[in-house]
Amino acid sequence: MRKKDRTYNILFISISIIGITLLHYLTVASKWGIHDFYRRLYYIPMIVSAFKFRLRGGLLASLIISILYAPHLLLYFGEMNIEVLNQFLEIVIFIIIGTGTGFLVESDFKKKKRLEIQIKKLTNLENYTQNILDSITNGFIAVDRNLMIKSMNKEGQKLFQLDGGLEGRNLSTLFVEYDHVEKILKDVLKYNKKVLNMEIKCISKDEKDVYVKLFAYPLLSITDKIEGIVLVLEDVSEIRKLESQVRTAEKLSAVGELASGVAHEIRNPLGIIKTISQTIYEDTEDEELKEGLEIIIHEIDRANSVIQSLLNFAKPNIHEGKFQSIDGLIQDILLITKKYAQQNHIEMNYELQEDVKLFVDSEALKQAFVNIIFNAVQAMPDRGDLHVRLLKEKNWVKVSFEDSGIGISQEKIEKIFEPFYTTKDTGTGLGLSITHRIIEEHKGYMEVDSAIGKGTRIDVYLPILKEGEQDD
Ligand SMILES: Nc1ncnc2c1ncn2[C@@H]1O[C@H](COP(=O)(O)OP(=O)(O)OP(=O)(O)O)[C@@H](O)[C@H]1O
Ligand SMILES: [Mg+2]
Repeated sequence: MRKKDRTYNILFISISIIGITLLHYLTVASKWGIHDFYRRLYYIPMIVSAFKFRLRGGLLASLIISILYAPHLLLYFGEMNIEVLNQFLEIVIFIIIGTGTGFLVESDFKKKKRLEIQIKKLTNLENYTQNILDSITNGFIAVDRNLMIKSMNKEGQKLFQLDGGLEGRNLSTLFVEYDHVEKILKDVLKYNKKVLNMEIKCISKDEKDVYVKLFAYPLLSITDKIEGIVLVLEDVSEIRKLESQVRTAEKLSAVGELASGVAHEIRNPLGIIKTISQTIYEDTEDEELKEGLEIIIHEIDRANSVIQSLLNFAKPNIHEGKFQSIDGLIQDILLITKKYAQQNHIEMNYELQEDVKLFVDSEALKQAFVNIIFNAVQAMPDRGDLHVRLLKEKNWVKVSFEDSGIGISQEKIEKIFEPFYTTKDTGTGLGLSITHRIIEEHKGYMEVDSAIGKGTRIDVYLPILKEGEQDD
């Protein structure tokens, strides 16, 4: 009860008791009908007091009333008779009613208090459990027997890029091959078994591949009946991506070693053939032979240039590093490639958000970026746009190349960094593998985002290393 209410209540009760008592004392004793009426009025402050102040209130009010009322009896009657006894009995009833009502109100109040405490405890427990679930770094989903979502923690919402939980919705909105998942979960319900470590693909809002490891446990009630399933999801997309990057890097280095060995072995005999051909060419007068030798020398040069690009691919690219503005480097590249883009009716534009100086081998990095630009131009046979952007993202410099070309299908994206993978008649398929190697040698990485018919974006990330880190 608020302090103000309490004061009002006390005032009301006191004034009522005093008022009724005064009425008794000021009314002549002979008017018993009126006294009876006044006496009954006492019940009002007494019951109000019991309701407002419980046992304490009821008891106190009835005692005060009795104390105030008793002298009035003796004063007016002057002697003891049956009527006076009756009136005294009334006083006892006052006390019993005041105390009884107070007692009932008191016990009701205590019950309510206990219930409130229990509700508070339950709410605290629920909050506590939810906090624990939310602080877990794995996704957590509880479903009922119909595979309807009952609850989901924050990490689960993050995994599926949801703004809130999906309580009351079916699980089918979350997984790519839902039929398969559904069958396995039904088995969990049917045979009370667990599912551990199952890798599955999830539906994600931004169409990126999200892979999770799924653990499913039957959710048992107090009576050991299966009420639903608890799903624990561990995001393994990053691990998957890293694995594929490591695989590509391994492949590249194996092919690189092989290529440099083979190239070396072929270059020597080719050199000998070329020298002998040139000598014969200079010595002979036979026009037909000369023509044939010209073709041989031309083809040897062509073979040599392929071998050179193989060797370029295989050798480590960073020769000398220096601090260089990445903006300056991009400006240089745009100048070199401008003519090529113009010939192919490509509009190139460059957006600089923030320039950073990095310790790089500028020649190698230029080669890496030029390969990406050439591919972009080649992907836009009937004109198009190429946007180049330079920005800083935390500790990384990001150079983005976005074209409006033919795009690359999802299955092919995995392959484009493989050496000799090409879809072009005259391509060697080494361009992007060389780029990949150069970026790796700068401790960076690349990401590709592409949609068929819409275009491709290649993001190159280069680390902003602190002094002393670049030689690691
Ligand atoms: N921007 C792009 N748009 C569409 N496809 C691309 C793009 N970049 C690369 N590709 C695909 O990736 C393949 C491999 O590219 P890569 O640069 O390694 O070799 P290439 O361009 O075919 O040959 P080379 O670079 O030796 O001339 C290309 O053949 C093409 O199919
Ligand atoms: Mg290329």
